[in-house]
Amino acid sequence: MSTSLFSPYKLGRIELANRFVMSPMTRNRSIGNIPHEIESTYYAQRAEAGLIITGGISPSPNGLGYARIPGLFSSEQVAGFRRVADAVHQAGSHIFAQLMHVGRIGHPANLPAGARLLGPSAIAAPGTMYTDTEGMQPHPAPSAMTEAEIEEAIGEHVRAAELAIEAGLDGVELHGANGYLIEQFLNTASNQRTDGWGGSIEGRARFALEVAERVARQIGGDRLGIRLSPYGVFNGMQADPETDALYEHLARRLGELGLVYVHLVDHSSMGAPPVSPTLKQSIRKLFPGTYIASGGYDRARAEQELAEGRADLFAFGRPFLANPRLVSKLKNGTPLTPPDLATFYTPGPQGLTDYPIDG
Ligand SMILES: Cc1cc2nc3c(=O)[nH]c(=O)nc-3n(C[C@H](O)[C@H](O)[C@H](O)COP(=O)(O)O)c2cc1C
Repeated sequence: MSTSLFSPYKLGRIELANRFVMSPMTRNRSIGNIPHEIESTYYAQRAEAGLIITGGISPSPNGLGYARIPGLFSSEQVAGFRRVADAVHQAGSHIFAQLMHVGRIGHPANLPAGARLLGPSAIAAPGTMYTDTEGMQPHPAPSAMTEAEIEEAIGEHVRAAELAIEAGLDGVELHGANGYLIEQFLNTASNQRTDGWGGSIEGRARFALEVAERVARQIGGDRLGIRLSPYGVFNGMQADPETDALYEHLARRLGELGLVYVHLVDHSSMGAPPVSPTLKQSIRKLFPGTYIASGGYDRARAEQELAEGRADLFAFGRPFLANPRLVSKLKNGTPLTPPDLATFYTPGPQGLTDYPIDG
């Protein structure tokens, strides 16, 4: 019998009810950088997903570059995430925390007092970003991190992962995609360092791999995944002739470190260049753990790729945002509610917890 999207799946220490994953989505409701009750409700409403991945959570005050995103470095934040984890578990699902240090993608107006915008090199991202107090602002150039600051940022990831587990979350996903700190190290557009943290493929991959190795040592590789977006262009990222080789090196090393999954983003459905099928195949071959595919999926495409063995789990973003009971709807063929773009990032419950809970 062929495997179905609706069949259970063992992911490290946990048993998922099905192959549907809720993609990480930043929703900017965490006033004071703490997750509140409405966010517990939001995630619990979507507990039909076999696995939920939280929106990006900063491991450090320096990584809080967007307005109203949560952190995971204070006791109030741990308490907030404990409420989230409890609500999701009570509703029957599992939840991983996505650790997202924004690096250069931030603005002083969004940062708490004393925090600093850091990046591998002092190169500003192109374009602008939203701030609550000053509206749209150009990205400032970050300070190039010293070796001590790199070491500190690695330690912050380890500590935040430890706190995620302490809060009762089931695991951690490192945000190595979409142009945030980890990808800023990987990518030549943002990393022009001439020391051991840049230059060669090994040098640019070093930050990602040291974070992965040290977090895995702390919480166990079977509770650690990573999100990657080769060929992504979001936040000023650019491919280069070594892109395939870089991601092949990463896939091999992440496998050796025992990570439980690689979560591959292909944003071609959002206008980004496609990831070549050959690179996807070689990552799948080189990484022995679970492979999560994401970006623009519907049931038919996920079913086809599952049958072809191209991925184990499938992450859905916008469809889950607007359809709390997405799994039932896909099973029953019920038409999907479209997402309301205007309330993606606005404070309050509107567009967060008030989508119809129909199946
Ligand atoms: C409102 C919104 C917020 C997002 N925030 C994040 C995020 O915090 N971390 C991340 O890795 N991706 C983030 N993404 C990207 C999604 O995880 C996903 O890759 C993207 O929406 C494409 O998948 P879809 O076609 O199923 O929506 C976000 C997307 C949306 C729409």
